[in-house]
Amino acid sequence: MAQVNEHFLKLKAGYLFPEIGRRVTAFAQANPAAKIIRLGIGDVTEPLPPAIVAAMHEAVDELARRESFKGYGPEQGYGFLREAIALNDFASRGVEVSADEIFISDGSKCDTGNILDIFGNSNRIAVADPVYPVYVDTNVMAGHTGPVDEFGRYGGLVYLPGTEGNQFVPDLPSEPVDLIYLCYPNNPTGTVASKETLKRWVEYARKNDSIILFDAAYEAFISDPSIPHSIYEIEGAREVAIEFRSFSKSIGFTGVRCALTVVPKQLTAKTSGGERISLHQLWSRRQSTKFNGASYVVQKGAAAAYSPEGKAQMRALIDFYMTNARLLREGLEALGIRVFGGVNAPYVWLKTPNNLSSWDFFDLLLSKANLVGTPGSGFGAAGEGYFRLSAFNSRANVEEALVRFKQVVKS
Ligand code: MLT
Repeated sequence: MAQVNEHFLKLKAGYLFPEIGRRVTAFAQANPAAKIIRLGIGDVTEPLPPAIVAAMHEAVDELARRESFKGYGPEQGYGFLREAIALNDFASRGVEVSADEIFISDGSKCDTGNILDIFGNSNRIAVADPVYPVYVDTNVMAGHTGPVDEFGRYGGLVYLPGTEGNQFVPDLPSEPVDLIYLCYPNNPTGTVASKETLKRWVEYARKNDSIILFDAAYEAFISDPSIPHSIYEIEGAREVAIEFRSFSKSIGFTGVRCALTVVPKQLTAKTSGGERISLHQLWSRRQSTKFNGASYVVQKGAAAAYSPEGKAQMRALIDFYMTNARLLREGLEALGIRVFGGVNAPYVWLKTPNNLSSWDFFDLLLSKANLVGTPGSGFGAAGEGYFRLSAFNSRANVEEALVRFKQVVKS
């Protein structure tokens, strides 16, 4: 008799964003005239930058000709993209990351989940609370946790609360942990980590022989020059950290799919017998067995983001979304709402008015203003009483959303 992976049965009912989608669809069916504005999932709305479109068209034409046709590409990604990333994203900031330490993939969501393939099953794992749900759910699926409690916390995980008291930048764990998920600029709270904060984490990881899984999917949205874009800007991080980056939001690739993961060559973890093993080799082995690479057309498009026109168009796209973030932040503050993030990140995190629970505020906004956001409690117990708005939308929708917010909050 075939058996299922029973760890899946520990998961809370649905993944957060499909669950929101389900509720919104039900509301839309019951209220067909409602003009719903979606500021929930961070999904881009603006068309691809022209330099990227042109490169993708050209790549399709190459595939249409016998002499330039390509079949399987390298599982780790094409050299032209890995080299462009090493040069523009790392060397230009004085950060040492070589092209062959960069693994191209079809998304950071997949990579942050798949990375667990190369780690053992008895690691102590720390996550922030609130947190991007993929880190938690993939550990549940892998059997690294116990059951969930009434607050939505899984047994066996070490939760690091982000609160207004610590400005949503959690403190170090008070006990030794082996794997630590960090996400900066942060999803969902939109906060950033200073160089000092990241230094403390790198020191902690070096002292405890732990590995930091650093999700930098939103680094392109940083505007403050003092904030690190990469954990490798911190001395000693190459021995303790894996970094994830994404093209999803910076060049509008949520549907196109392209991302990268950096695994430095000197990064190691131990076998149960104490032997040190290269994580770079394990990840390379994992990818070449389970993945056939992102498509040539997509990688050509991503590489075009590093051309002079591509860089300018990417900057304009990021600035567009960050203006949305500023409008949301300022508009909500003017209504007397306590707001966080939205300065170096495309997410605005707010305290719900009148101490409403996150889901009650979700229901109120949807029913009274036809607005969709993400309940903070969906990101973890410490997110209860908070709410996330995404800045990824058209300007007209953001402006209209603020008008509707005002009607709800003032009524
Ligand atoms: C989000 O809304 O948190 C993101 O769009 C999720 C993702 O990038 O997978």
